Amino acid sequence: MTYRIAPSILSADFARLGEEVDAVESAGADLLHFDVMDNHYVPNLTIGPLVCASLRPRTRLPIDVHLMVKPVDRIIPDFAKAGANIISFHPEASEHVDRTLALIRECGCKAGLAFNPATPLSHLDHTLDKLDLVLLMSVNPGFGGQQFIPSILPKIAEVRQRIARTGRDVWLEVDGGVKADNIGAIAKAGADTFVAGSAIFGSRDYAATVREMRTCLARETTG
Ligand code: DX5
Ligand code: ZN
Repeated sequence: MTYRIAPSILSADFARLGEEVDAVESAGADLLHFDVMDNHYVPNLTIGPLVCASLRPRTRLPIDVHLMVKPVDRIIPDFAKAGANIISFHPEASEHVDRTLALIRECGCKAGLAFNPATPLSHLDHTLDKLDLVLLMSVNPGFGGQQFIPSILPKIAEVRQRIARTGRDVWLEVDGGVKADNIGAIAKAGADTFVAGSAIFGSRDYAATVREMRTCLARETTG
């Protein structure tokens, strides 16, 4: 099992964003999680394609854009041009989920579908064969630093089973409240990609935190 750690820059110091990205890259991050909020689909407002384009030449990490915006289609080509590698969106925010998925792929990006804690997995029924990634929210979207909702663990396991049945390599990303003390249980449930905002950027030593997370993940693999 390949595990990936994706620091969410939502919890970075925005006055020093470039340095913060350098710091998580040298701390051993695998992806850069980029939370886009519009004060409409979620009650918060964050960063857009301009910031993505500024960070692109700064880092070799793939940029994992998590769109919490409604509508979604208009902004997708802008993020692709700004250097996004993965673009995920919430099915509730798109009138035509299949069209949005096709648009992301036409723009040359990997496509992800994001599920809020109460969003049913039935949205995977006619989409999973077109997905590169399933993003399961383990908090309600809008803010960093919230508590992991433990009832998401069986939902992770169910998605892992569905992915296994496809025989395809679809990433299973969990987002919200992920920390060293629960990352093992989240991996055990079936996740392979872990977003961590406050756990990394709120720590004094990013590299030590990433290392601790990897140790917990390794323990999961070796039993
Ligand atoms: C929440 C965002 C998350 C957030 C996670 O809406 O999608 O990516 O940054 O932050 P933590 O890890 O602090 O819960
Ligand atoms: Zn996110």
